[in-house]
Amino acid sequence: MNYQELAHKRYSARKFTEKAVEKEMLDNILEAGRVAPTAANKQPQRLLVVQSKEGLARLAKAARFYQAPTMIIVCVETNATWEREYDGKRTGDIDASIVTDQMMMAATDLGLDTLWLTWFDPQIVRSEFQIPEEYEPVNLLAIGHNGAEPASPSRHEKMRKPLKETVFFEHF
Ligand SMILES: Cc1cc2nc3c(=O)[nH]c(=O)nc-3n(C[C@H](O)[C@H](O)[C@H](O)COP(=O)(O)O)c2cc1C
Repeated sequence: MNYQELAHKRYSARKFTEKAVEKEMLDNILEAGRVAPTAANKQPQRLLVVQSKEGLARLAKAARFYQAPTMIIVCVETNATWEREYDGKRTGDIDASIVTDQMMMAATDLGLDTLWLTWFDPQIVRSEFQIPEEYEPVNLLAIGHNGAEPASPSRHEKMRKPLKETVFFEHF
């Protein structure tokens, strides 16, 4: 499968089987996140992998993740993120999202299903997992085995805007 095929194949899964994600697969996914680019190579990501029944039950208080058996809470250590001198913009959200995306695509490549979530209550995540004050939970990544009919790779023809609506050359 080449990258275009992989990108078209990936979809947001909202039904997973109970089957655990194999350790070698998880290692592979985490490695894809490890090598992700981050601004100034600061690598501010701090990942919390949650797979225990008890941990997943605590995370379920903060987000709806459809009983996925593996959840990764992607945090950034805010003080470790790069800051743009001109306006003070910090790249933590961007770095966390590149790491999340690389892991999501690696999981897809392994034949696993994923769901990226930002709809979660950060205060509950913080308190349930004693997330240090200087860390910010940015994304949740749900990973598991497919539990329903996968979305069609050709759905993008209708579900995505044509390039001419989002890409401009030389001027807007
Ligand atoms: C930054 C981001 C946040 C998202 N947050 C959620 C979420 O909290 N819950 C959810 O069910 N889906 C979430 N999604 C999934 C999107 O709704 C989904 O990617 C989009 O509708 C396109 O569908 P597809 O992924 O199946 O192609 C999120 C996706 C992204 C990229």
